[in-house]
Amino acid sequence: MPIGITALGTYVPTRVLTNKELEGMFDTSDEWIVSRTGIRERHLAAEDEFASDMGVRAVNDLSARYPGVLEGVDMVVCATSSPDALFPSTAAIIAGQVGLNGAGALDVLVACSGFMYALSVAQGMVLAKTATKVLVLGAEALSKILDWTDRTTCILFGDGAGAAIVEEVPEGYGFQSFVLGADSTGGPSLYKFAVADHIPGVPVGTGAMLGMNGREVFKFAVRVLGDSGEKAMNKAGLSGSDIDWMVPHQANVRIIESACGRFGVPLEKTVINLDRYGNTSTASVPLALREALDDGRVKDGDQLLLVAFGGGLSWGASAMKWYGGAGRKVAVQEQELVVK
Ligand code: ACO
Repeated sequence: MPIGITALGTYVPTRVLTNKELEGMFDTSDEWIVSRTGIRERHLAAEDEFASDMGVRAVNDLSARYPGVLEGVDMVVCATSSPDALFPSTAAIIAGQVGLNGAGALDVLVACSGFMYALSVAQGMVLAKTATKVLVLGAEALSKILDWTDRTTCILFGDGAGAAIVEEVPEGYGFQSFVLGADSTGGPSLYKFAVADHIPGVPVGTGAMLGMNGREVFKFAVRVLGDSGEKAMNKAGLSGSDIDWMVPHQANVRIIESACGRFGVPLEKTVINLDRYGNTSTASVPLALREALDDGRVKDGDQLLLVAFGGGLSWGASAMKWYGGAGRKVAVQEQELVVK
């Protein structure tokens, strides 16, 4: 039974923080940030806006684009690196606010690789008949866990959310492979304390806010984006020339450029929007994919490769054939409404 994404919605907060504004906060420059990362601006959540609020707004966008899409959803999986609380899960909070009380709900915490893991969890649940229609989210209020005096980390991240429906799709569409992994030796390179003030390898007293060894993460990311993307293609019997669009985690344009070189997908076939959003962790892949759908780059039947990496250190990649059928149905309904 082929399983895939049938609908996608997104949300970013209205407040935009530019590199120029950061220049007034500490010793940095627009030129440094753009040349080292490709990021020009990012969206930040309001003071009273958390991951669940942004998740709900992404679901509202989903419902506006695909009317009636939540009907039959029996599971909610939310990937997040900045959950509202340890429990209740951010997924349960979102489910309650979008009229899905009673559906199963769980969070997936694999930092920026989380959305790829969540898609795979959803696919497994549908295949095992634990669920029939899964709402998968990536929702982030990263600005709340950043040290805004640490110029090496806070310049990189932004807030936002994506919401997707995962369910059965017609033959020839949907997920063709998943490659997921983690390597705890890189744990101290990217971290945030939760309960125990202790992470092996992290000095005591340094994990209250997001901490990172940028150079180590950079080296790791270049290697694993290439490796996991290649493995996901091999598993699906594909090579770089088969890929219509690669949609990578939006962390740093230099990381994406080197990964492209590794597996033969040209930069022109890669969706990049980090210049306007920064690294939105689990929301970055859905935000990039939605943009490429809206501007007509990604079309029904396109061969996609999604790749991500993050804290753990971790990675996740998937090859999939994009199913645009649900979107077409909505477009036809809208045309009919206009004709009437
Ligand atoms: N403005 C100006 N100078 C800066 C800034 C800044 N914002 N930040 C650091 N610098 C300085 C450093 O202090 C250093 O100065 P020094 O040479 O006098 O010591 C110099 O710039 C070079 O620093 P590097 O760390 O070597 O810079 P690099 O080229 O490695 O770029 C960066 C740093 C952008 C953080 C890069 O390493 C990177 O992108 N790493 C990956 C990070 C990442 O993707 N993290 C997210 C992972 S996903 C997740 O799960 C959250």
